[in-house]
Parts: sequence; structure tokens; C-alpha cells
Amino acid sequence: MQPTPPRPRLVASILPADFARLGEECRSLEEAGIDRIQWDVMDGVFVPNLTIGPDVIASVRRVVDVGFEAHLMVVRPEPLLERWVEAGCELVIVHAETCRHLHRTLTAILDLGVRAGVAVNPATPLSAIEHVLDLVDLVLVMTVNPGFGGQAYLSTMESKIAEARALIERTGRPIELEVDGGIGPDTIGGAARAGATTFCTGSALFRRRGAMAAELARLRQLATVREDAA
Ligand code: DX5
Repeated sequence: MQPTPPRPRLVASILPADFARLGEECRSLEEAGIDRIQWDVMDGVFVPNLTIGPDVIASVRRVVDVGFEAHLMVVRPEPLLERWVEAGCELVIVHAETCRHLHRTLTAILDLGVRAGVAVNPATPLSAIEHVLDLVDLVLVMTVNPGFGGQAYLSTMESKIAEARALIERTGRPIELEVDGGIGPDTIGGAARAGATTFCTGSALFRRRGAMAAELARLRQLATVREDAA
């Protein structure tokens, strides 16, 4: 009897949402069955785009119950860590590239009583995070260069996803392996076969407004890697 493959987690990037109707858009995502919402926090310095702050997240927190993750694409994540947690994020993800003292920053997130994630950009080797895998709850492998939605998936990242999967397996810890950027029906299968278990999707999902539940079901199906498929 083949073991049941783990249920893929689907996370919605808020980047392509209609920011004039943010609460309604998040309610639609929740009703469609999304597992978490990713708040793409950008400072216009680490990435060439500027988005939202904790007050926006706190406003939406009041109208939906689904989990929130803050993806901090900012050069200095430390000063506002508490604010993302107070705003209602249960998971705070920082970039290895922006933390001079990554171990300390991740410890500070855990000390706030929430889960900690670490993200790596396409050019960043996993050696940058191997000494914090005892701390993190999630590794986020970027499959685009961050800053904008609608970019093409970098399939060259699949070897890195597989490397991350092997690193995680060696820890024996239940670390989520999330991918983010260009994830849609044509790309999610490759990321899943490489070892990802959590998939952040923005444009591919918002393109299917009005049929999001069906699209999520389709993406989950495409992301389910059967043991006998190897
Ligand atoms: C980086 C963002 C991602 C992503 C989402 O730019 O952090 O969340 O681009 O958008 P799609 O799914 O359209 O690539």
C-alpha cells in the first residue's frame, strides 16, 4: 500500500490583488480554500517595488480567519518584526540576503511566538541557510527574482529545490519547503517533483477570479506527487 502523499499547501500572493478591494479579495481566497495568504512586503530598495505595511494587514486581519505569512522583501526586517506579528501574521519570512545576523533575527521571530521562515533568491546558495535549519519552520526558495507578479518561473531552480529537500530531510525536522514565483498549472508539477510541498501563487490564481476554488483544486492535483510516479 503506497503511503498517501502529503497534501500540497497552497498560498496566495496578495501582489496581483485589486488593492481597492483587498478585504473582499482575501475573503474570496478564504472561501476558495486557500491555506494561507502571503503578504508581499516590499521596500523599494531590496526589490524594485514598494507595497504595504502592517496597518494594511491588520485591517484585513479583521475580516478573514485564514493564516497570514509576511514575506519581508526589505533591507532591514528587524525593526518591524513585532508589528507584523501584532498585525496578525502567524509566520514571518525574512531573506537570508538582508540579515547580517540571520540566526539572531530568526531567533527574534521565534521569541515573538510565531513561526520563522527564511527565503533565498535565485542566485543565493543554500549554504547561506544550512546553519539555521535547526531554527526555521519554513524555507522559501524563490523561483523568480522578487519584486513583481506575473514573471516567468525559473525552472533552473528545480535542482535547488531538490537540494533544499535533501537538506531538510537530513534535519529530520518538519520544515515546510515553499516555492514562490511563476507558480501555475504549467510549473507547479515540476516544483512538486523537485520536492516543494508549499506553493505560493499569485497571477495564476487571480487570473481565475470567479473560479478560484476549481483552480486551487486543479493546482493541488497537479502538485500531488504520487510515490509510484518516480
Ligand atoms: C515576488 C513575489 C511573489 C510572486 C507572486 O515577486 O514575492 O509572491 O511574484 O506572483 P506570481 O505568482 O504572479 O509570480
